[in-house]
Amino acid sequence: MNESICNLREQFNDALLAVSTLADLETLKVEYLGKKGLITALLKNMGKLSPEEKKTFGSEVNTLKGYATDAIAEKFEALQKAELQRELDAVELFDISLPPVLDRGSYHPVTLVQRRCEEVFRTMGFAVEDYSEIVTDYECFESLNIPPFHPARDMQDTYYLDNGQLLKTQTSAAQNAIYKKYRDALINEGKTIKAVFPGRCFRNEATDACHENTFFQMEGVMVGKDISIANLIYSMKTMLSEVFDNYGLKVRLRPGFFPFVEPGFELDISCQICGGEGCPSCKHSGWLELCPCGMIHPNVLREGGIDPDEYTGFAFGLGLTRLAMMKYGVKDIRDLNSGALTAMSQFTDDK
Ligand code: DAH
Repeated sequence: MNESICNLREQFNDALLAVSTLADLETLKVEYLGKKGLITALLKNMGKLSPEEKKTFGSEVNTLKGYATDAIAEKFEALQKAELQRELDAVELFDISLPPVLDRGSYHPVTLVQRRCEEVFRTMGFAVEDYSEIVTDYECFESLNIPPFHPARDMQDTYYLDNGQLLKTQTSAAQNAIYKKYRDALINEGKTIKAVFPGRCFRNEATDACHENTFFQMEGVMVGKDISIANLIYSMKTMLSEVFDNYGLKVRLRPGFFPFVEPGFELDISCQICGGEGCPSCKHSGWLELCPCGMIHPNVLREGGIDPDEYTGFAFGLGLTRLAMMKYGVKDIRDLNSGALTAMSQFTDDK
């Protein structure tokens, strides 16, 4: 083999051996195989050779070219593999055959209680309605027999918007709209109005373990011919027995005042902790105050376009937040809005 070719081959071998990155390999490739590369440059010396020598020299240069090309390709593959391996080594290994560990989150206890109540009421033929959190003074108060300057407003101060609207203080604020939505079916088709409407309520008041400025209620109404207090007691008892999973649950009514019902009641249930024996949770009375309710005031029905001489009905305002606290034994209402996810996630029912 021609000496200069032989030398270049050795030089190339040494250089290739020293290459350790793909970038360096590319430089080496240009240096040897490029148009102005060292191997091509060999051909420039051919002028002085005889035709016979030229032939051998040319073929030897080509052999070297082929050799260098193959060697570079081989090295390229090896380096690429090594680089991939390095990247893989840097990645934390995981077993793709393991079942996924997903942080699925959980429902808020109030949501759980709300859904349970909705489910129970649906099975009793109630429609579940949604209503806005921002309402008018008419919806929240006037349509509910609470005219301006009525003292009942003092107990329900709230957050007012510049345009006169307000954040609703009670889910009762949807009553008027519900009556108007269903009154045609009631009057023309004789269909009893049965609806529940859960929602978030707001009051401008200081917070403590039992009071929050933001809480949830579920309002319910039933209006039709001859709807009586008996219907009210039966519906409430059935619903609460389901929610508390306790069919021996007792209810009792005490008088209570709310301008939109007449008569109005406070509905108590037998204490779910002591079973009615008396304990600190029920202040040793055996009863827990749970749900204000009453027979809808004639003025309220009239305001909803329903003739109170023909139709009667009952309404109730279930405190969903209170219900969740009772059901899950949450002692401080502020925990529910605290965003403490670990505390709240313990109530998930994975149904
Ligand atoms: N809206 C009342 C409140 O938040 C609760 C209430 C009382 C609702 C009596 C009713 C009812 O529907 O009949 O204080």
